Amino acid sequence: MSTLVLCGFMGCGKSTLGRRLSAALGYAFVDTDEMLVRQTGMSIKEMFAAGGESYFRDREHEVIQQAARMTETVIATGGGVMTFERNAALLSEKALIIYIDRSFDACYACISKRKNRPIGQRSRAELLDLYESRRSAYMRYADLILPNNASADDAVQRALTWFHSL
Ligand code: S3P
Repeated sequence: MSTLVLCGFMGCGKSTLGRRLSAALGYAFVDTDEMLVRQTGMSIKEMFAAGGESYFRDREHEVIQQAARMTETVIATGGGVMTFERNAALLSEKALIIYIDRSFDACYACISKRKNRPIGQRSRAELLDLYESRRSAYMRYADLILPNNASADDAVQRALTWFHSL
């Protein structure tokens, strides 16, 4: 398969690692949140305000249907994407899934720096619950579990070694 999907919790490094991986492989790079914003002309905050989380998740699923048709592409997904069976089933059929496994504290440090994520506005305790409850969904579909607690270069190198060994 020539498409790689990066999943994991908010702040785990999906976009950073995705851009680097795509450059190393000569693949295109897309971020499903960026696709959503471009196609709807709304920010993620505005989508949640317009129709709540369900409106956002339906628009997100439409973007996932498009992403599932891409080839030679590294796709960074929003943190909720793989926790919905309709998205996970579609992507895992067409692409290799990499779960970016980063500690909660490291994710939280990133989340609390940026105020543009509606779900990221929850309390630390609520986010920790969400982190723990989502873990099994990320793991269920992962072809590779990629720890990202040291350097990004190191994580990219391990992903490339794995991909080239397939
Ligand atoms: C979400 C994560 C966000 C974005 C939206 C919902 C989530 O993406 O899709 O705010 O449910 O975890 P990132 O993981 O890229 O921050």
